[in-house]
Amino acid sequence: MTIKQIFSKYFPKLKSKSLSPLLDIEILLSRTLNKPKEYLYEYPEKKLSTKQLSLFKKLFSRRSKGEPIAYILGSKEFYDLNFKVNKNVLIPRPETEILVDEVINFVKAPSSKLQAPSIVDIGTGSGCIIISLAQNIKKANFYATEISSKALLLAKQNAKLNQVNIKFFKGNLLQPFSSELRARSSEPIITANLPYLTSRELKNSILKYEPRVALDGGQDGLKYFYELFDQIDKFKIKPRAIFLEIGWNQATKIKQMAKKVLPNYRFEIKKDLCGFDRAVVIKK
Ligand SMILES: C[S@@+](CC[C@H](N)C(=O)[O-])C[C@H]1O[C@@H](n2cnc3c(N)ncnc32)[C@H](O)[C@@H]1O
Repeated sequence: MTIKQIFSKYFPKLKSKSLSPLLDIEILLSRTLNKPKEYLYEYPEKKLSTKQLSLFKKLFSRRSKGEPIAYILGSKEFYDLNFKVNKNVLIPRPETEILVDEVINFVKAPSSKLQAPSIVDIGTGSGCIIISLAQNIKKANFYATEISSKALLLAKQNAKLNQVNIKFFKGNLLQPFSSELRARSSEPIITANLPYLTSRELKNSILKYEPRVALDGGQDGLKYFYELFDQIDKFKIKPRAIFLEIGWNQATKIKQMAKKVLPNYRFEIKKDLCGFDRAVVIKK
């Protein structure tokens, strides 16, 4: 079967199952042939070997069942870096890059007067946030926590892949980091993209492949935010700033939680490109 014949046979099969059937086939064929996308259009008459055809069919079958391309390829680009991904971690989303931008701007602003700050990412998943920060901020100490051992393993691999030095802790939110914090008596910058979907949203969503622990924020979606502010209070942490990704309708509640524990901090909402509330920044 030639490349051209693959497109005409498999495109109609994927049309009703994917929002980007053409792109998906391009990506799967490129992976099968280990060639860039341009190759497909330069050599449409190129015949696939039996082995290549069988590999393409396997990849295609996974995609046609709805598995995200990133899991099929085992990687995802985020903040111009490459991250390994698997079913144990959330696939990094482009909208999370807003959070990374905000932290970098904050740290680099001359008004912050920060010298080697400690930055801790909670619920690091693939490590995409903290690794992107470590790649772009030269003088800082980087930490990350995560509840899932399997996600933590992948985050460590991604740190190695992207050649950055991060101290990883396993455990509940800030808990595993609390003694380190006291020892350093530092004012950390906290970043987090916590699970924030309501259990009901999750039940009705198409996100069937990604881990529940990465998405489910409990009945009102805010379970982890309450717990995070409780921990900040309990461990007497005075963060330099907190950057949180949030759901479109969660800013007001999160502001209330923040004001209770950190009454003198300023609270800013950051919108995404569609105009929805996407992140909050809480700073002195
Ligand atoms: C929405 S995902 C975000 C992953 C990654 N930071 C990103 O932006 O792609 C939330 C992550 O928090 C982790 N998590 C859930 N509950 C946690 C807890 N109590 N303590 C630490 N991490 C937790 C999940 O395993 C998951 O990796």
